[in-house]
Amino acid sequence: SPHKVTSHLEVVGDEDEEEEEEVQMIEMEVEEAEGEGPEGEEEEVEEEKVKEERTVTGEEANVAVETGVRERRVAVFVQLKRPGDVQEVRAQLPVVAEEGRIMESVSGSPVTVLCGETGSGKTTQLPQFLYEHGYTLPNGPCGGGMIGVTEPRRVAAVSMSHRVAYEMGLSQRQVSYQIRYEGNATEDTVIKFMTDGVLLREIEQDLLLQRYSVVVVDEAHERSVFTDILLGLLSRIIPLREKSGRPLKLVVMSATLRVEDFTKNPLLFPSPPPTLSVESRQFPVTVHFSRRTPTSYVREAYLKTCKIHKRLPPGHLLVFLTGQREVLRLCRALRGTFPCTQSTGEEREEGGRRERRRRKSRGDVDLDKYPLLPEVGRTECEDEEGEEEDKETDWKAEVSAHDRQLPMLVLPLYSLLPPERQAEVFRPVPEGVRLCVVATNVAETSITIPHVKYVVDTGKVKRRYYDKVTGISTFRVEWVSQASANQRAGRAGRTQPGHCYRLYSSAVFQNLLSQFSQPEICSRPVDDLVLQMKALGIERVAHFPFPTPPSPEALQAAEMVLEGLGALSSDGRLTDLGRTMSRFPVSPRYGKMLAVGHQYNCLPYVISLVAALSVKELVVQTDHSSRKGEEEGRGEGGVKSSGLAALRRLCAGKEEFRLLGDLGLLLTVVGAWSHSRGRTEFSAKTGLQPRAMREVSRLRQQLTNSVNMICPDLNLVIDPSLAPPTEAQARHLCQIVLACLGDRVARKISTDNMSAEDKRKQRFSYQCVSCEGPVYLAPNSSLTSCPPDYLVYQDLLDSGHRIYLRGVMAVQEAWLPQLVPQFCKFSEPLELPPPTFDPNTSTIRCHMSCTYGPHQWPLGSHEMA
Ligand code: CDP
Ligand code: MG
Repeated sequence: SPHKVTSHLEVVGDEDEEEEEEVQMIEMEVEEAEGEGPEGEEEEVEEEKVKEERTVTGEEANVAVETGVRERRVAVFVQLKRPGDVQEVRAQLPVVAEEGRIMESVSGSPVTVLCGETGSGKTTQLPQFLYEHGYTLPNGPCGGGMIGVTEPRRVAAVSMSHRVAYEMGLSQRQVSYQIRYEGNATEDTVIKFMTDGVLLREIEQDLLLQRYSVVVVDEAHERSVFTDILLGLLSRIIPLREKSGRPLKLVVMSATLRVEDFTKNPLLFPSPPPTLSVESRQFPVTVHFSRRTPTSYVREAYLKTCKIHKRLPPGHLLVFLTGQREVLRLCRALRGTFPCTQSTGEEREEGGRRERRRRKSRGDVDLDKYPLLPEVGRTECEDEEGEEEDKETDWKAEVSAHDRQLPMLVLPLYSLLPPERQAEVFRPVPEGVRLCVVATNVAETSITIPHVKYVVDTGKVKRRYYDKVTGISTFRVEWVSQASANQRAGRAGRTQPGHCYRLYSSAVFQNLLSQFSQPEICSRPVDDLVLQMKALGIERVAHFPFPTPPSPEALQAAEMVLEGLGALSSDGRLTDLGRTMSRFPVSPRYGKMLAVGHQYNCLPYVISLVAALSVKELVVQTDHSSRKGEEEGRGEGGVKSSGLAALRRLCAGKEEFRLLGDLGLLLTVVGAWSHSRGRTEFSAKTGLQPRAMREVSRLRQQLTNSVNMICPDLNLVIDPSLAPPTEAQARHLCQIVLACLGDRVARKISTDNMSAEDKRKQRFSYQCVSCEGPVYLAPNSSLTSCPPDYLVYQDLLDSGHRIYLRGVMAVQEAWLPQLVPQFCKFSEPLELPPPTFDPNTSTIRCHMSCTYGPHQWPLGSHEMA
């Protein structure tokens, strides 16, 4: 709010920015008097102060008005009061040395591309430059508005907002963040860090992004889909804002020099935007290749880390692995080897785990030991299949007892780690202790850990793949690109000369690593993007200025999905249903569930279900492999997961939830979580992730609000404990889900003519609409006790061994022609029984035989109107 800024605000003459004596103080309220001031509520006391100041500076305001808008806009400069330690660190950053050149370019051009090595200060400094140059002020160069910074990763949005607020000496009310379900933005917010998806949603409500004066698209080299789409949209918004007289500036930031897709793309920016590259003070990094490439890279990383720690001079260590599970595993192995006195949150958690183990030895069940809930609806995943597991205890044998005396602080870093735990990697380490950060790809460019001297690079990364036709997703651990490998190596030379140990040979680097990584948009389904773009009024998505366009097949597949859902008409136009669907911040299928959910008083359940399906990793991953269970299918042993069993006990007596299969389990979880008092204990018992569950609660609230906004008459309120649905409601819920998942139906493969052995093996085999089959019920699915003839599933996951159906729910054959007729083929009317005519409604009713989907499953005859 204005009064908070006034004490820092100075307006200086054009030429003599540095001559402090000539600085002319003008209070910001002056601008407010012109009716342009920032809005916001003040408390009464402050209101008085404002009035007082206004009278003092009124005359100066007139002077300012006379000098003309344009001139004044260039002249504003805001002074910040930075903490002392920050001044020192900033002075070292290459970006700070280039402030003048960068700001000149921003002021002279609507779009600026800024390239600079990771750690050169782009993310933390650029928003500050913009703020200091008055971009948030009504009399600033763009006529006021927020500075928005988009990040592809949530971790970065949250942690950068904290850091920048601290550096600027401002509060989180002023420098804030917003990720899908949570944020701390207020009416005082001047700099907002957010995920790229959040800004994309905002464009739907505010097509010209009027609330912003500058948008900074960070980490553009990562080429996340939302970043790509944002750039396409911004390229159209900028000329419109230019015309409106309140220009919008765009700064695209990249950690690599590979920006031709943005700069040399006449569809995107007709005149190539100026590209600045900041030379960073990078120290030489010696790259060491391994002579051979090991199969067990986690073990190899362990051995290399031990060796470095034992033999090499002080300097922090950074290890790159592919996923959370591997990270935790290596952390545990290293901690077991090297003692460290500093207690961390992680260790406390370890303590909890030990306690559980202890209890187990007393006869309790070990909750860690089993595979948990089917992880339905996850959009991203760091941990699926790991590499072959060997015993960590065996590794240790190769490190001598003497070496184990050397203290090392081992910290994990991955995207789902809670923010306060992420912050630990930035904290100073006690004298004589080596810090070792074991990280996933997040440490490659988004987060810079200070004082790293040694990098251990496994050369691997985990990527999710989708089959364009079947929609089957797989997680594959594969080689990073050469560009990524070089980024990783660069992390070692930030503050001193460093070393990078690549756990693969130079031949592998040359021959197996691609030069660059592929943009995400080329490797994932785009139905959500197409729906959002149509809702933005972009009729012909194929003509959109994508930095790299998705394949025509992917676009066509997306249109087919949306047409099947009724979101698009056959000529590709957005329907009313599609418009409603697009207003929910969830994938189109779930959007449809919400849009049709009110019909049977089922909305509270639908909302909870969609919330739970949209949040990834509800259940803690354990380090025990669940492979064995998977391969055997499930024998007669019944429920194998005790965490799941604990959850199922919650379901006991709630027969109505059980009708909903895995989805019923999810609903029970949501209700039980909101209801439970001792949540820590509850989550320890069930394996539910508190953070994910809080996200579900927030999303429930957000979706309830959206529904109320679209349909004020409903006046929905959240019933936290979510009482079980009535039987009729449960049936309707199944039907609602089916109506949205007509292309995700599977039919049980008949085992009638099989041998007894095959019968047992194929008990859980299905054929699904999108592939020839067979696919299988996941071993921990709640439907394995009684596999139904037909079911719907959320997604398919290829484990490498089998394809699994995840998030399943039984449906009745008779519902298919009624609820998803678009996937049915109806034949000629049958002779018997004869058609009937109802004169009141003028309808003929007759029986038709019907088949479903591409495999033409016979559904028998159905009476149709
Ligand atoms: O965006 P870019 O990679 O160019 O650099 P940055 O993220 O702005 O980081 C600049 C410097 O700030 C690095 O040396 C980081 O280590 C430091 N930093 C920090 O000390 N604490 C944070 N929470 C974030 C960054
Ligand atoms: Mg950055």
